Order: sequence, then structure tokens, then C-alpha cells
Amino acid sequence: MKIGVIGGGNMGGAVASGAIAAGVVAAADVAVSHARPLLVENLEKIGVTVRLTRDNREVVHGADIVIVAVKPWLMEGVLAEIAPVLDRQRQAVASVAAGISFEQLAAYLECDQRGAVGLYRIIPNTAISLGQSMTFIARHGTTPQQDEAVMQLFGALGEAMEVNEAQMPAVTALASCGIAYAFKYVDAAMTGGERLGLPREESLRIVLRTVRGALAMLEANGTLPQVEIDKVTTPGGITLKGLEAMERNGFSQAVIEGLLASK
Ligand SMILES: NC(=O)c1ccc[n+]([C@@H]2O[C@H](COP(=O)([O-])OP(=O)(O)OC[C@H]3O[C@@H](n4cnc5c(N)ncnc54)[C@H](OP(=O)(O)O)[C@@H]3O)[C@@H](O)[C@H]2O)c1
Repeated sequence: MKIGVIGGGNMGGAVASGAIAAGVVAAADVAVSHARPLLVENLEKIGVTVRLTRDNREVVHGADIVIVAVKPWLMEGVLAEIAPVLDRQRQAVASVAAGISFEQLAAYLECDQRGAVGLYRIIPNTAISLGQSMTFIARHGTTPQQDEAVMQLFGALGEAMEVNEAQMPAVTALASCGIAYAFKYVDAAMTGGERLGLPREESLRIVLRTVRGALAMLEANGTLPQVEIDKVTTPGGITLKGLEAMERNGFSQAVIEGLLASK
């Protein structure tokens, strides 16, 4: 598989370097435009070089999958720029921009005039930089071979799940925005630790280990969170008092409202 990445920033850079590090693509089969210094540093760390350019059309040349990782407001201009040079029978275009529909992508790529092209909408989260992303993939007019290649690529960068376009807002809220909400819990727990008299750094270490342990239990036991909560709480005990205080202050409702607001 040959990939072209347009926009080598946080997302594009993580995909390019992560895919090479995971061994799903060879460095020689990767081209990136507008690479930021972080990508160059990461490539140096793993001892490889890729084709770097400022020319988006050059990135398209030879690629099987063209991943467009520019800010949403730049998407229209960039897709119009590459529209004339796409091989629509062979190549597919993957957009990582949240909120831009297949209909809009097809319009930007002038599919009515120039012909249809296989499209993906891809929603990773920032943990893709560590190969730990929860990534969602919706497809439109692609081939089974392209689908397999894209699932393999993003599967190597964490977990990849296929969704339909209508599910995109919900999964974006839960995982792409949701990683910030997970950080928010860690941040609030650190502040709680400080109020209990612990130094901030120590609180962070304790919260990280605790959250990691909780996730490991859910995964290993295959249980729902409430089952594990019940194991910690005893009637009249301190955990129950803590949980009740959290709910009095709207903890669960705040999380739900946050997710609904980010849809
Ligand atoms: N970060 C996230 O959590 C996240 C999650 C899901 C989806 N996304 C989506 O991913 C996309 C990229 O986000 P990001 O966080 O990676 O942004 P970013 O770090 O700012 O990277 C954007 C990249 O696009 C390049 N660029 C700017 N203008 C360009 C042009 N005309 N042609 C080609 N490349 C150009 C930039 O290069 P210069 O240095 O030259 O400006 C930079 O390399 C966005 O659409 C965002 O919505 C992000």
C-alpha cells in the first residue's frame, strides 16, 4: 500500500510516522506535504525518511490512499487543488476533518463533472500519536481492497471501527472529544488529591495508576462499570459517601450533557 498524506501536522504526521513504525507501510511508500518539524523529528527517531514536499499534487501521484489531514476550513481548497490529478478508478481519498460530509467532499472533488472517487471519513483521536487511537471509519464508494488497506492502516494505530456516516457525530463526541473528557476527570481528581493534602505530581501518578487499574479490570473481567463499583462500595462506607457526593453535584449528568453538547 502506498499512502499520500496531505498536511503533515499532528494528525497527518502521527498517521505517517505511526504507520511506518507499525510496519504497515514502507517509508519508501509514504509521501507527505507540508510536514511540520515534529514529523521530521519522529521519522529521524525511527531512522527513516519519506518523500516530503510542499506540493499537494505530488503527494497524490502514485498513492493508493490519499489522506487529507488539513484543518476543516482548508479542505475545500485542497480538494479542489488535487481534483484534476486524481486517478478516480484506482485511488481513494480519506478525510480526517470532523463535520465534512461525503456529499461535501464529493462536491469539493468535483465528482459530478470529473467522476466518482472512493471516499473515507476518518475520525481518530489524539492518542493516535502513540498508536492508541480509537478510530472510526465510514466509507463511500470504495472497493473491498481499499477498505481492507484502510482498516489495516488505522488498526495498526490503535483500534479501528467501521461506522456509517449517520453515526459520525455520536462517535466523534464519545472518542475524539471524549479523550478530553477523560483528561478532565484526571485533572479534577488531581485537584481533589491536592485538597486532600497530596502534592500535585504525586496525585497525578496515583490517579493514572488508578484509572489504568480500573480500565484493566473492565477489560479483563468483561464487566460493566456498575458491577465493579458495587465491589468497592459497602453500605455506609466511605466510597458510597463519595459517590453520593459526586452525584449530588451532577457528575453523571455533567458527563452526559457534555457528550450531548459536543455532538
Ligand atoms: N487533533 C485532533 O484531535 C483531531 C481529531 C480528529 C480529527 N482531526 C482533524 O485533523 C485535521 C488536522 O488537524 P491537526 O490537529 O493535525 O492540525 P495541524 O496540526 O494544524 O496540522 C495541519 C497540517 O496541515 C498543513 N497545511 C496547512 N495548509 C495546507 C495546505 N494548503 N495544503 C496542505 N497542507 C496544509 C499544515 O502545514 P503548515 O505547517 O504548513 O501550516 C499542517 O501540517 C483537522 O481537520 C482536524 O479536524 C483532528
